[in-house]
Amino acid sequence: MRHFIENMPKAELHVHIEGTLEPELSFALAKKNNIALPFSTPEALIAAYDFHDLPSFLKIYYAGMSVLIEEEDFYRLTWEYLEKAASQNIVYAELFFDPQGHTTRGVAFETVITGIHKAQQDAKEKLGIDSKLILCFLRDMSAESAMDHLKMAEPYLDWLIGVGLDSDELHNPPLKFKDVFALARQWGLKLTMHCDVNQKNTLEHIGQVLDDIEVDRIDHGVNALESESLCEKIKAKQLGLTVCPVSNRFVVQSLTSNEIKKMLEKGLLATINSDDPAYFRAYLNENFMALQEEGNFSKEELLTLAGNAFKVAWLDTKEKDSYLDKLNNYGQKAVA
Ligand code: ADE
Ligand code: ZN
Repeated sequence: MRHFIENMPKAELHVHIEGTLEPELSFALAKKNNIALPFSTPEALIAAYDFHDLPSFLKIYYAGMSVLIEEEDFYRLTWEYLEKAASQNIVYAELFFDPQGHTTRGVAFETVITGIHKAQQDAKEKLGIDSKLILCFLRDMSAESAMDHLKMAEPYLDWLIGVGLDSDELHNPPLKFKDVFALARQWGLKLTMHCDVNQKNTLEHIGQVLDDIEVDRIDHGVNALESESLCEKIKAKQLGLTVCPVSNRFVVQSLTSNEIKKMLEKGLLATINSDDPAYFRAYLNENFMALQEEGNFSKEELLTLAGNAFKVAWLDTKEKDSYLDKLNNYGQKAVA
């Protein structure tokens, strides 16, 4: 199974680029930028990764961003993720970034997006991995701030495929950002939003992303299984659900393998993703492995999950078909 998972061509649709900041890179950037870290070694930093819910994770995640200052830092962060992704046979990735996590520290929007974009271009050329970029708004900041950041992105629309919504969901419902997402849609961007697992009012929030925001995809969205009518809507709209098993284990103490099985049984387009792999110490292959081990998923089920990611990726039909052909060929050889 390990070989089967490692060699399978995959897409990753839910990864926060700031969540790929490895402790070693953090130390290297801190040294370069003359920033004092409150830890003596990368191992000590990892030992301090003590999260048990979304807020305790986010606190450490935002603190980690302090070492990212110059364009070259964002370039290196992105390049190193894409290098790792290519080594895991990820052929296509859609990356989230959190500009408000940087502009609030005095780092310019342009610095952030230019560093990321240049690394994406180089990775395509030199590593053969294709990727797209999704601007995420921090839902615990104001709708005005989100709108300001969408407007900052206007000169860079060609570099973006969509917008998302992340950070702390408590008291920050999708509707708070209705106008921002409506404008993003007008500008031709795709829409997605986090519906993190076991959040307060989660079913109401999932209802809002479907009916009011009219998203093109849902990040996590696992609790939709509790409502037959939400499942039916998700299925009717053929929306993808980007589930992140190891992340779920950290924030809700469950890999959600039973839930992922149920999604497949219901014909929902569930996908497997890593979320914040440097913090959760698991990239995409490790997520597939952990899931397979816990839920005893068959090769056919793993192929379905990997195929779903290409189906719901923000690619044109020709590109999707070409990736799906590649996956089908792999599956036929590997399962035979
Ligand atoms: N930001 C980074 N990872 C996140 C997650 N899993 N949920 C919400 N916000 C995030
Ligand atoms: Zn996420």
